[in-house]
Amino acid sequence: MPSVQSTLIGLTLGAALAAAAPAPSRVSELVKKSSCTFTEAAQVSESKSSCSTIVIDSITVPAGETLDLTDLTEGTTVTFKGTTTWEYEEWDGPLLEISGTKITVNQESDAVLDGNGAAWWDGEGSNGGKTKPKFFYAHSLDDSVISGLYIKNTPVQCFSIESDNLLIEDVTIDDSDGDTDDLGHNTDGFDIGESTYITITGATVYNQDDCVAINSGENIYFSGGTCSGGHGLSIGSVGGRSDNTVKNVTFIDSTVTDSENGVRIKTVYDATGTVEDITYSNIKLSGISDYGLVIEQDYENGDPTGTPSNGVTISGVTLTEITGSVDDDAVEIYILCGDGSCSDWTVSDVDITGGKTSDACENVPSTISCT
Ligand SMILES: *[C@@H]1O[C@H](CO)[C@@H](O)[C@H](O)[C@H]1NC(C)=O
Repeated sequence: MPSVQSTLIGLTLGAALAAAAPAPSRVSELVKKSSCTFTEAAQVSESKSSCSTIVIDSITVPAGETLDLTDLTEGTTVTFKGTTTWEYEEWDGPLLEISGTKITVNQESDAVLDGNGAAWWDGEGSNGGKTKPKFFYAHSLDDSVISGLYIKNTPVQCFSIESDNLLIEDVTIDDSDGDTDDLGHNTDGFDIGESTYITITGATVYNQDDCVAINSGENIYFSGGTCSGGHGLSIGSVGGRSDNTVKNVTFIDSTVTDSENGVRIKTVYDATGTVEDITYSNIKLSGISDYGLVIEQDYENGDPTGTPSNGVTISGVTLTEITGSVDDDAVEIYILCGDGSCSDWTVSDVDITGGKTSDACENVPSTISCT
């Protein structure tokens, strides 16, 4: 591992010059704060804990392996340089995992994290066909920042977020190549669960599933997002998991274009849980093929059934400035609530045009109308 060694030796010599007879502990302290450039995945897992800055320089990760940046030393900065890519194998992944506290993850301006998704894409996503690796586990990546990553062609879901106090800013996920022959599927942008204080600003997502999906978590803020090609800004499905609370979530100042849905909340039939203090504000829609605004409580085994139940409550919902157009055979607003489970909704300037109205809505709060 030439590049790492030369860095470590350089620092050790520097320390020796600075202090004529450095105590071993002092040397190791300095080495521990060293800057490491890695050009092979195996070097990363072997030496990551002794680095305070890590440069991932044009690594091709071997088939079936995770680029393992877990348990980093507190305060580590990780910078991607050149093209990072992954060889093909059928497995669950993840292709990349980063954990630690006060970690900064960024990239040089022309770097690319290329998931090589086309090797797996078969139109089936995670429902069948090839076993596809998830892309990026941000699990226990706490008090940390991910900034400016450019990610393309994830085999299936991109971010799996289970963290506390994580800022994700100006990240692009471009799975638009997966639109070819409808081969990309279930390429969720950001899946969030069991998390608190997640802020995602300035994200750009071209994909074939939810731009964002929040299954559980509190104090989540998504702003300035551009979502295209997918399934929209989603909460859910909520219910039937180990954590079934979604609380204090804001989606604001974002656009959803050429997607199945714009704004969506879905909960699981016959499950229990809580969805509360949810705001969708200034969301601009265009080219929506299924539903502009959809809130439904009838999911079973991942699909809507048309029969809602009331065990998961949806309350304290603010819908404001949700505007734009849907396709002419799409439904503008669809609300399917259980008996008494949708309450305390504040609605203003919801103006979705161009599509059909639904006559299948049930238990619609008085502040909104399906027609
Ligand atoms: C709601 O979440 C936002 C964004 O994380 C946070 O700033 C705010 O303090 C939270 N509000 C409450 C009442 O917890």
